[in-house]
Amino acid sequence: MASLRNLLVTLSMVSLMACFANAQLSPNFYASSCPNLQLIVRNAMREAINRELRLGASILRLFFHDCFVNGCDASILLDDTATFTGEKNAGPNQNSARGFDVIDTIKTRVEAACTGTVSCADILALAARDGVVLLGGPTWAVPLGRRDARTASQSAANSQIPSPFSSLSTLISNFAAKGLNARDMTALSGGHTIGFSQCFTFRSRIYNDTNIAPMFAANRRGVCPASGGDSNLAPLDIQSPNRFGNTYYQNLVSQRGLLHSDQELFNGGSQDALVRLYSTNPTAFSNDFAAAMVRMGNISPLTGTNGEIRRRCRESRPYISQQQVYEAEARTMRKDKAIYDRLVALEKNETLYAKVWEHATLLEEFKAFKPNPELGKMMKMGWRTSVHASSVPLSSKLFSRHDAWCTSSSTTILTTNLP
Ligand code: HEM
Repeated sequence: MASLRNLLVTLSMVSLMACFANAQLSPNFYASSCPNLQLIVRNAMREAINRELRLGASILRLFFHDCFVNGCDASILLDDTATFTGEKNAGPNQNSARGFDVIDTIKTRVEAACTGTVSCADILALAARDGVVLLGGPTWAVPLGRRDARTASQSAANSQIPSPFSSLSTLISNFAAKGLNARDMTALSGGHTIGFSQCFTFRSRIYNDTNIAPMFAANRRGVCPASGGDSNLAPLDIQSPNRFGNTYYQNLVSQRGLLHSDQELFNGGSQDALVRLYSTNPTAFSNDFAAAMVRMGNISPLTGTNGEIRRRCRESRPYISQQQVYEAEARTMRKDKAIYDRLVALEKNETLYAKVWEHATLLEEFKAFKPNPELGKMMKMGWRTSVHASSVPLSSKLFSRHDAWCTSSSTTILTTNLP
């Protein structure tokens, strides 16, 4: 009897753990729903970087700017419309953030392979990692399972993305506000081992700062006049702007950081020792950078039934009318009913063991379950999958049964498996 009870407790725990795991990010999130995802992203990033080396840097920065504004939710990818103001025209992004078309291309290919399954937020996280790898940097397993925001915040982008004119203490507190410590901040700033910066972002440094190598300042004044030429470009890493390595830190040690904020990391303050370490130990930098990228990628993700899976990364799915929901509901009901009837019958069953077992079986059925093709077509036309999940009475009854066992994770199964 005791051993039966132990078995039941174990089964319940396993069942619950499986459910909780759905609510967290995991590198295997799309392993069965989109097995070729990583290959599609890697190949598209390779093509993009072959076309223009800088794109690896631009995509890495997009990911940083996405994560720092209300979490890694692809909010930065939303276009402005007549009625919607997104983040693309916030100060740190306007005429500066780039690479959006690369993400569009990847999303189109991913949609062709696995329709309605992979979020733009996850595509951006993978593309950022691949940009780093393809330019010679470290690799890491990217936790996945983020969903896309339906909204964005220009004011948060203006206030929460760090400025290149910041002091060390401001940079540390900007990152602390996102749950990242000073070591994460210094390692992530190593992203400036690739890419370029516009004159207006480093003008005051090369004309006014005193902690700058004189030859370096003179050289940079050549591309960045005291007035005018605001968008002229200089490499953030004077040694190798297209190769991901630890040379950025060597530049800082020799007072050749391009941005004021870069040189703040090595200016007699708390990060000096770490900058010295990274400048001589590329492995220490690579390991810390990869770990900090995972932590940055974990900032406030939308999971479960929050947010949505966009069809196109530039726009949120349109709302559907209640009338359309009723119509879809009427068509779906017949298919839901068989499963629902079994679940009702299950409720009458008295043994816990049977419930656990049956629950697992039904969960599998749910994974395989597809709504009727007509509904699928409507979803493809832009319906919000979550509206379906939360508005169809039979489905919600089923979900609430699942929720009793599984907290909030079950709706994901239906919404992510729509054709
Ligand atoms: C520490 C605070 C940071 C500040 C103040 C800062 C500031 C800037 C600025 C001003 C630019 C040039 C933009 C332009 O001229 O259009 C830039 C570029 C860039 N940033 Fe940062 N950044 C910071 C942290 C990061 C982090 C954490 C990453 C990634 C992990 C990153 C990756 C990049 C990359 C790759 C570029 C080059 C983009 C391109 O060439 O298109 N930055 N950053």
